[in-house]
Amino acid sequence: MVPSRITTDRFVLRRFSRRDVEPLTEAVQASLPELSRWLPWAHPGYRRDDAASFVRESAQAWKEGRAFDFGIRAHHDPGRHLGNASIWHTSRMARSAEIGYWVRTDETSRGIATEVTAALIDLAFGTMGLHKVVLRIAVGNRASERVAEKLGFHRDGVLREELLIAGRWVDHTLYSLLSHEWQPARRATSETDPVA
Ligand SMILES: CC(C)(COP(=O)(O)OP(=O)(O)OC[C@H]1O[C@@H](n2cnc3c(N)ncnc32)[C@H](O)[C@@H]1OP(=O)(O)O)[C@@H](O)C(=O)NCCC(=O)NCCS
Repeated sequence: MVPSRITTDRFVLRRFSRRDVEPLTEAVQASLPELSRWLPWAHPGYRRDDAASFVRESAQAWKEGRAFDFGIRAHHDPGRHLGNASIWHTSRMARSAEIGYWVRTDETSRGIATEVTAALIDLAFGTMGLHKVVLRIAVGNRASERVAEKLGFHRDGVLREELLIAGRWVDHTLYSLLSHEWQPARRATSETDPVA
């Protein structure tokens, strides 16, 4: 069972609820120029309704066991939305999943994505019992490539014209990490709480 709350040294990852709609809208709107370069859903007119739909769909996906989205908050300032981190199954038979993340622009380069992704990798190879975790990163997205590199992902190859972003088909690099490659030294300290 995937816990609805995961803590790391600096952050808490929480399953979304309706009270997250406002802080999520604010964080996305404050980061649109950067998010819209790399993420298909981050369109220039993003507003409260988009965040509300996301929270609704996220609850449904969680209930069905398809995907698990977490909001990132700092222990010292839990009211401010710092970004999202998600994990979703890509193949049950192959026991593989994909991780996705974004961090609000005024908080980047502080190691947030690396720390929370490490916690989701622990979840993937621990509680979820998976064999492989993948990331798909747009070619040219150096910040995200750094996250993959710092966590020890293997660069598998390029997926041609993988996603349509702002009207343009963009090549993505596929990165993978196998359960036996995950090294404890790379892990963020994470501790999972029981389901709330
Ligand atoms: C990619 C993203 C999630 C990284 O989040 P973050 O919390 O800043 O990540 P971290 O701080 O853990 O690591 C980022 C690394 O990239 C480096 N970096 C940041 N911007 C960079 C740039 N333009 N060029 C090269 N390196 C860059 C940072 O210095 C850091 O590396 P370091 O630790 O070796 O110094 C964030 O930039 C973001 O949300 N971008 C927009 C959305 C997005 O791209 N999501 C991912 C889609 S796959």
